[in-house]
Amino acid sequence: MEPLPTLEDVLQRAPEEIAAVDDLDSLASVVDKLVGPKSPVGDIRRAMGSLDAEQRPLVGSKLNEVSSTVDRLQSEKRRLLEFEETNRRLQSEAIDVTLPVIGRSVGAIHLVQQTIEEISQIFGALGFHVANGPEADLGWYNFDALNTPATHPARLESDTMYLDYGDPRDEMLLRTQTSPVQARWMESHEPPIHIIVPGKCYRTDAVDASHLPVFHQVEGLAVDTDITFADLKGTLAHFAREFFGSETVVRFRPHFFPFTEPSAELDVSCFNCDGGEPGCRVCKGAGWLEMLGCGMVDPDVFRAVGYDPDEVTGWAFGMGVERMAMVRHDINDIRNFILNDTRFLSQFP
Ligand code: DAH
Repeated sequence: MEPLPTLEDVLQRAPEEIAAVDDLDSLASVVDKLVGPKSPVGDIRRAMGSLDAEQRPLVGSKLNEVSSTVDRLQSEKRRLLEFEETNRRLQSEAIDVTLPVIGRSVGAIHLVQQTIEEISQIFGALGFHVANGPEADLGWYNFDALNTPATHPARLESDTMYLDYGDPRDEMLLRTQTSPVQARWMESHEPPIHIIVPGKCYRTDAVDASHLPVFHQVEGLAVDTDITFADLKGTLAHFAREFFGSETVVRFRPHFFPFTEPSAELDVSCFNCDGGEPGCRVCKGAGWLEMLGCGMVDPDVFRAVGYDPDEVTGWAFGMGVERMAMVRHDINDIRNFILNDTRFLSQFP
């Protein structure tokens, strides 16, 4: 092997071969083949000592030229490859910040539950305790203890969902109101009593814009030695102002419920118009909105639970939760509560 032509040949080939590689690994192996220890150039380097004095400087300087040329070509190529690699990575990792975000929607508490919580907070601030009772209850608690005679039409199978129809002492039904919890609570607690009872109620009502067979009520009960109708009025007027707004006025209309005497229905002044504007979409021109039933606990109810009606007095009320929410938010169809349509639900986040 002639050293000088070999080195000259490497010098010729190096630029093209180094230019042809397209990654750092092949760059290393091409350089190794050109000038590495096992290449012809490596052999020449090792053979330097045996060259004669005349040839040695010529070969030596050619060797240097080869090494520095390959070194330069290699580092230029490495920089180029690294630059391309960085570009590729930047491109593949690029994020298009103009793309719309994929919606991650967060749920919300259902409006019925929100309303129950709000009502509970208002009464909670007055010192009322939130009580619960069974949804499947005895006819005794749903009717008899509440002074509802056996002949009352609400007790017909056509009105009430019975699990077992027969003797009221052990007939099971799905409660038609939250009122049975009044009797259950009084049976197991001594006055003074201040409770509210939110919960589900069931009736054999066909579904329409204002009826659902499953709906919610909040019951209220206050019992002590000297509770009067004035307490009832003051408490419910306060509640109405808190729930519907501070300008709200209430009125009580005589009514009948088996478990209260006297009984009343509570109306609130329409919050949408100024006292009965003919075209008002909320009160339809009446000026008043029917809100709930209430009254002074009937002495017979006290007797049924073992209280002495000569020693205690009390008031009670029952309100429909869906109705409260419908009036407050101007919802015209109760079916919205159960349709699971997020266009409705998401309006009450
Ligand atoms: N339970 C009655 C109903 O479902 C509402 C009611 C009226 C409850 C008067 C009461 C009350 O506690 O005193 O229609």
